[in-house]
Amino acid sequence: MDHAFYEEKDGVAVITFNNPPVNGLGHGLRQAIVEGVDRANGSAAVRAIVLSGSERAFSAGADVTEFGTPKSSQAPTLRTVIEVLEQSAKPVVAAINGVCLGGGLELALGAHYRVAAAGAKVGLPEVKLGILPGAGGTQRLPRVLGLEKALNLIVSGQISKASAFAGSALFDKVVDTDPLAAAVEFAKGLGSDAPLKRIRDLNVPDADADALLLNARNAVKAASARFPAPAACVEAVAASTNQSFDDGLALERQLFTQLLTSPESLALRHVFAAERAATKIPGIAADIALRPIKLVGVIGAGTMGGGISMNYLNAGIPVILLEQKEEALQRGVATIRKNYENTMKKGRITAEQVEERMNLLSTSLSYDALNEVDLVIEAVFEDMGVKEVVFRELDRVVKPGAILASNTSTLDVDKIASFTKRPEDVIGLHFFSPANVMKLLEIVRGEKTANDVLATCIDMAKKIGKQPVVSGVCDGFIGNRMLYAYRDAADEVMLQGAAPSQVDRALESFGFAMGPYRVGDLAGLDIGWAIRKRKKEANPQGYEEVVADRLCEAGRFGQKTGAGWYRYVAGDRKPHVDPEVETLIETFRKEKGVTPRSFSDQEIVERCVYALANEGAKILEEGIALRASDIDIVYLNGYGFPLHRGGPMHYAQQAGLFNVVRAIRQFGATSSRPQAWQPAALLEQHAQSGEALK
Ligand code: 3HC
Ligand code: NAI
Repeated sequence: MDHAFYEEKDGVAVITFNNPPVNGLGHGLRQAIVEGVDRANGSAAVRAIVLSGSERAFSAGADVTEFGTPKSSQAPTLRTVIEVLEQSAKPVVAAINGVCLGGGLELALGAHYRVAAAGAKVGLPEVKLGILPGAGGTQRLPRVLGLEKALNLIVSGQISKASAFAGSALFDKVVDTDPLAAAVEFAKGLGSDAPLKRIRDLNVPDADADALLLNARNAVKAASARFPAPAACVEAVAASTNQSFDDGLALERQLFTQLLTSPESLALRHVFAAERAATKIPGIAADIALRPIKLVGVIGAGTMGGGISMNYLNAGIPVILLEQKEEALQRGVATIRKNYENTMKKGRITAEQVEERMNLLSTSLSYDALNEVDLVIEAVFEDMGVKEVVFRELDRVVKPGAILASNTSTLDVDKIASFTKRPEDVIGLHFFSPANVMKLLEIVRGEKTANDVLATCIDMAKKIGKQPVVSGVCDGFIGNRMLYAYRDAADEVMLQGAAPSQVDRALESFGFAMGPYRVGDLAGLDIGWAIRKRKKEANPQGYEEVVADRLCEAGRFGQKTGAGWYRYVAGDRKPHVDPEVETLIETFRKEKGVTPRSFSDQEIVERCVYALANEGAKILEEGIALRASDIDIVYLNGYGFPLHRGGPMHYAQQAGLFNVVRAIRQFGATSSRPQAWQPAALLEQHAQSGEALK
């Protein structure tokens, strides 16, 4: 493939990058840029050189797929390419369109002049991948924008429109027209004696460097506990003010190299790739024709139905909300309005936007109102009988080709599909609560779900700002099925001697926002109790009592009753350790003949996280999840797994699958429920072969 095209016209050489989709600066493109600049310098007919990308991207930066491979450091490196631009005897103009990010912006900073489209998106987002700009960005950006702005941009990774920098030394020209034509005109106007402005020769303009740096160091302190990159960004930028350009560059390189191999950067880069992989389904062509989604029906205006509706209203898609009773409908609509008004009070949307969105919402008590919807999502009570009534009705009224979705969190989607004469149009769309906030959408592919239905739902998820992950049908799908294993592992540790507060503390230090017992108190312990009571009724002999049953029997349902695993003071969510719970657990242990022992925090974390990974591997081997990285995305976006750990499967991979399997076997050897600690066959295979889980 030609990684760049070269053309000479009227004294200007135009080098057009050709590395779709976003002109990542891979080895081929780097080489082509240097060859183009050399050729232009050798051509008597050329007075100036223009670098251009595509309409979509000048360049999105270093090719992220090259990280960790020999190609990333193969000559010419990006730094060399930038040196070649800077040293070019003929002036180089960057014509910036689309995205100009990371190494792409660093490349443009190596040119002598920059002409940008006002709407081009520029920034140095490396920090979001756990690294820092490693091709001179930390040294050149402060020289054109000043220390304060450069620090803000580099430490936050924020992406801005080029128009925000009009008038600064970052751009020589910001245009509303085609930036390539404008850059060529600009280049023609430079003349042969044009000065070769090099950013490296400028000084950083801010006088107040010490105060600004002190502020920045304080600001990144909190994040530094988990992510080393923001603090390293500050130190690299600091060097632009108190060291020579070349020394600053050397420090930047050193910090970049360190960060590149840090576990946090590995995790963030894994997540970047995983998020994108999750939207691709083997066997379904990327260009499959999608079904249009212009009108959505939602059934049930409760907790989930309201939040689900808001996603579509926010995206400008009209919604018809259906309920059984007028009061329920009114309540649901009032909650949606209240949510919008709260967002408005926080200044995130305007009063007009609230009305615009509410105007897209209509309501009905009759299924006949749904005959024209393209997608309908059912969010009624979690009961197969109720779902059956709803889906039979939908099958009767909804137009052919519409997608019929259920938001069930536990029921069999294939069974639900069987209530209709069009199971190929039925799918699970498992939103998480609060559905207008949580990013995760588990898309449950039934046995008969049509490919275009699945592809349409993945595309639709992205349009409403969700992160889709496809799951097969099983109890709990990917996320909740793993959650059962995690909670059981926590309960086992607790029963054998650890206090709930120690379990929570250990997992919170690992990085979870909340440990399992605090989550339980927040969500309400009565929900699980009701499920267990049903199980007990169905199978009294097979039921094994748990400590939570005793809490519920004592009326301790969590925060809502002021007591659960912890005690709460009215009006405050802070948990207090409660001696009553300690006594209750001790009594339970005695009755079960357990002699308590102490646990290290590390063992607690290993047991809980490896239980997740082991169940994840079973889900993978059963084909419920398509890839290990999909499981990570579920846990990161739906269950508060710490981002810097990259998800349970990535974490297990990094810990070494051999070590994980060995630990799981050891946990099983002393457990009263050894079957729960049976290592997944897939995990054992990979532990033996040393191959990564895919
Ligand atoms: N290198 C290679 N491929 C890239 C890429 C990059 N820098 N950035 C994006 N891509 C790929 C994606 O993987 C995806 O591929 P796929 O179609 O096979 O899944 C495709 O481009 C489109 O990406 P998105 O689905 O994310 O499309 P969007 O239009 O939503 O977003 C984007 C485009 C804003 C460019 C976004 O992809 C993005 O933020 N990319 C990362 C930008 C970045 O972090 N750059 C810095 C890289 S590190 C660096 O430059 C180091 C340097 O300082 C030395
Ligand atoms: P909810 O009880 O808050 O709301 C259910 C609503 O459905 C009620 O307003 C009820 O009046 C209405 N309804 C019941 N039968 C109906 C019918 N035949 N026709 C029209 N409306 C009817 O319940 P919630 O929490 O919103 O759950 C709904 C579904 O979403 C369930 O399947 C649940 O498992 C699932 N879910 C719930 C989550 C949660 O955190 N609450 C998370 C993910 C999924």
